[in-house]
Amino acid sequence: MAWIAGERVILRAWEREDIRARWEADQTADAESQRLGDWHKPPPSLLSREQEWEAEQSEPDASTVSLVIVADGRPVGDITLFQIDPRIRHALIGLSLWRPEDRDHGYGSDAIRALLRWSFGHMNLHRIELAVDATNVRAIHVYEKLGFVHEGRRRQHHFDAGIYHDELTMGLLDVEFWAADGSGPGATRPD
Ligand SMILES: CC(C)(COP(=O)(O)OP(=O)(O)OC[C@H]1O[C@@H](n2cnc3c(N)ncnc32)[C@H](O)[C@@H]1OP(=O)(O)O)[C@@H](O)C(=O)NCCC(=O)NCCS
Repeated sequence: MAWIAGERVILRAWEREDIRARWEADQTADAESQRLGDWHKPPPSLLSREQEWEAEQSEPDASTVSLVIVADGRPVGDITLFQIDPRIRHALIGLSLWRPEDRDHGYGSDAIRALLRWSFGHMNLHRIELAVDATNVRAIHVYEKLGFVHEGRRRQHHFDAGIYHDELTMGLLDVEFWAADGSGPGATRPD
């Protein structure tokens, strides 16, 4: 896959410069980014991220598709399908916009919708699942808007800044997605 086009963003493979762009964003990350990025330990160094990227280039992991979200020609975040199981047609999804100023512009919703179209269409997946901190109201709103259904609550799942946080699990089936998808530009359902 060369790239996946949404209406406002493009999803494409990671390039070396993206590793630095993400690392630079991490250096000025606000408290929200740190907490939602699960930073209970310091973020990895630029060198270790580059080494990890190089290792992935030589030995790609078939169960993961990780893409950079590009908006207005700039890398603004990343989105990943992981634990892809082609036998049961199941995967998990996660994403992050790296900088606070790039949030609330519709990029996240567009990126997920584009990857869902590709996952349920091109990859023929049947079910996609995610986990989200129960206090992450913006992300929960976005997932609900795209049709994800609440499936469970892992109580006091993680400990952050002296407080236990619940984690919600949500899931979306292919039939639910196609029924709700507004068939915007590029939303061609495969036969
Ligand atoms: C969560 C995230 C991916 C969403 O992407 P985004 O581009 O910021 O979101 P969008 O602009 O597409 O949509 C935001 C929606 O949430 C709504 N929203 C914003 N703040 C909100 C709040 N405090 N409560 C409820 N809804 C809120 C907006 O009004 C908008 O709704 P609308 O589309 O119905 O108008 C992005 O904000 C992000 O990366 N956040 C930090 C990391 C993170 O939380 N990752 C997800 C971990 S599971």
